[in-house]
Order: sequence, then C-alpha cells, then structure tokens
Amino acid sequence: MALTSSPERLLKQWFPHTTTPFIANAPMLGFTDCRLAGAVTRAGGLGFIGGGFNFEPGSTQLANLDARLTQARAELEINGSALGLPIGIGFVTFTPTGFEENAVAILEKHRVTAVWLAFPKSDADHQPLIEAIRKVQGKGHWDVKIFVQVGTVEAAKQALAQGVDVLVVQGVDAGGHQWAQGSARANNVAIMAAGGIVDARGCVAALGLVTYAGADGIVMGTRFIATSECPAPLSMKESILAATDGGVATIKTTKHDVFQSTDVFPRQYDGRAIIGISYNESNGGASDEEIIQRYNEAREKGDDQRRTVWAGTGIGIIKKIVSVEELIKGIQQEAKLTVARIAERI
Ligand SMILES: Cc1cc2nc3c(=O)[nH]c(=O)nc-3n(C[C@H](O)[C@H](O)[C@H](O)COP(=O)(O)O)c2cc1C
Repeated sequence: MALTSSPERLLKQWFPHTTTPFIANAPMLGFTDCRLAGAVTRAGGLGFIGGGFNFEPGSTQLANLDARLTQARAELEINGSALGLPIGIGFVTFTPTGFEENAVAILEKHRVTAVWLAFPKSDADHQPLIEAIRKVQGKGHWDVKIFVQVGTVEAAKQALAQGVDVLVVQGVDAGGHQWAQGSARANNVAIMAAGGIVDARGCVAALGLVTYAGADGIVMGTRFIATSECPAPLSMKESILAATDGGVATIKTTKHDVFQSTDVFPRQYDGRAIIGISYNESNGGASDEEIIQRYNEAREKGDDQRRTVWAGTGIGIIKKIVSVEELIKGIQQEAKLTVARIAERI
C-alpha cells in the first residue's frame, strides 16, 4: 500500500484535552465503564466505553450505554448538551442490524467525540455504519472521529477507503478478540498501535515501529484492566499480576470462547487469554462438552476460576494495580525520557 505522512499532531488537534504521547484505553465490553473512561480522559488520554454488539430495538446494551453517557457527562462536569463529550464508544459490529436506527441516535444525543468499530463479519459491513454517522455529522452540531480496529492489511485498506479518521492497528500480541490470521497511512488518518503494550518501552517502540513514520498514539487494553478504576473483578486483576511470562502464560485460540459458550464471533477472529483450567483440561484430552459442563457447574456455584481472562502477551511485566492517572502520566513521562536517552545514544 502506498503510504504518505499524516499531518503532524492530528490526534491533538481532534482531541485538544489530550497530552502526549496519545494514549487511549481499548473499549473492552464489560470492563470499561464511565468511571474508567472518565479517569482516562481526565488524565489526558482518550477514554473509551464498550457499547456492545446488539443494536436491535429494546437492546439493554444500548439502554445501559445511554445511561452511562449521561453519567459520564456528570462525572466530567460537562454541562450543556451542546458541548461535546470527550469520551469514545466502541462497538463490536458482527451483527450490525439496527446500528443506524438505534445506536447513532444515542451517540448524537450525547455528542461523543469518537466511535470505534471492530470485528465486522465482512469489512464491507462498516460502510453503511460509517455513512450513517457521517450523515448526522454533516448536520454540523456533532463533531466525531471514527476509529476502526484492523488486524490485516486488507482490512486496513478497506477502512481507509471507507473514510475512517483513525486506524487502530491491532497485533497478535493483543489481549481479547483479534484476527485469527493477523499481520498504512494516508493523509488525515491517524494510526494507533494496539497489542502487548503495557509500559513506556512498548509505547516508544510502537511510536517508532508501526509504520515507517511510527504510530501517532497507543491503545492499551490489558494494562487498563489492572487499574483501580477498572470494574473488572479483583480475581481477574490478580491473575494478570500473577503471570510472569505473557508469551507462555497466554494463548490465542477460539477455544476460550467455546469453553464459556461465548463462541459467537465470525471465524476470522479468535482471542488471546490466560491459559487456565479449561484449556489445560482440553490439552489433557477432555472434550469440549465436558469442559463446558464443568464451566457451567462452577459458575452456578459462584466459582469464577474457570472464567476466561482475556489478556495480551504484555501481562508478564504488569506488576501492580495503579490508578489510571498514575499509569498515563507515568508512561508519558517515562516515554519522553526514553526518547531523550535514545537521541543521546544515536
Ligand atoms: C479484556 C479485554 C476485552 C476486550 N474487549 C474488546 C471489545 O469489546 N471490543 C474491541 O474492539 N476490542 C476489545 N479488546 C481488544 C482491544 O481492542 C485491544 O486490541 C487489545 O486490548 C490490545 O492489546 P493489549 O490487551 O495487549 O493492550 C479487548 C481486550 C481485552 C484484553
């Protein structure tokens, strides 16, 4: 693909409250509420809330989203509905029916600053969703940037052709769902790197590496799970802290979804999670049916030891639960020092 340089500091221009390097949390469905997203935005990053995958009329996911956005506005003390809300919403798009009619109205009502689309059944399915957002944006009272997360060059090309503002380039080190067969720049498109980034070293590497001119910012998912503001259960945070080598402790497979009966993603996606009891039993010869039954029995007893802990390969270097502010400011400061040290050396 022919790549040309993006204008400098595009992300800063679009999201003026942010500080650099640009950091966003991934919109992890079930693990990102307005407390976490609000804290990320307040700390100078861009906070995302996972908005869901069901856009049918009466969707409880959309009703919850509406309530959360009202709460986010109150938490960030942004009064006056004409003002934009510096929070983004991420959607999983493999069942897009109803998005245009039911989701876009909520996004417009709250004037969210960004919309993130990921995991379509076919890349072409994003076209009508993007057009629906642009149509409302064209009325002039809502300024929104569209992020699309991609994991292959083909998906990146399609997203660029569909006119996205930000490409989130996801690598196979990422936690959670991703392209099973995973791995661009154009004018006025920003590039963000995602996958396995948990600290300043990863941030600086991504800024230098993702394309020949570097990424414009980073997205972290797993690292934000181990923050005090993240609504994930403590047991999940502790599993992340306990891992010492993410390359060995996690595995990328569709089995994580099979074992907990959440195998609803199209076949071009799988997911990375910590190797747990179910995976080990499967390797030892247990059938999927046996494992699903054991999973359901444990869940009924309130035992969450078999729950899938989605996590990227960076977990081995996550040692502490920290506040969102400590995390973002710490990475930003350390990244600047690291770049200065590199500059001295070369
Ligand atoms: C617990 C968890 C849940 C996730 N849920 C979503 C999701 O709902 N939508 C989405 O687009 N990506 C989701 N992802 C993937 C992220 O968008 C991102 O690519 C990934 O977190 C980056 O890798 P990292 O976890 O190593 O930082 C999830 C990731 C994790 C770890």
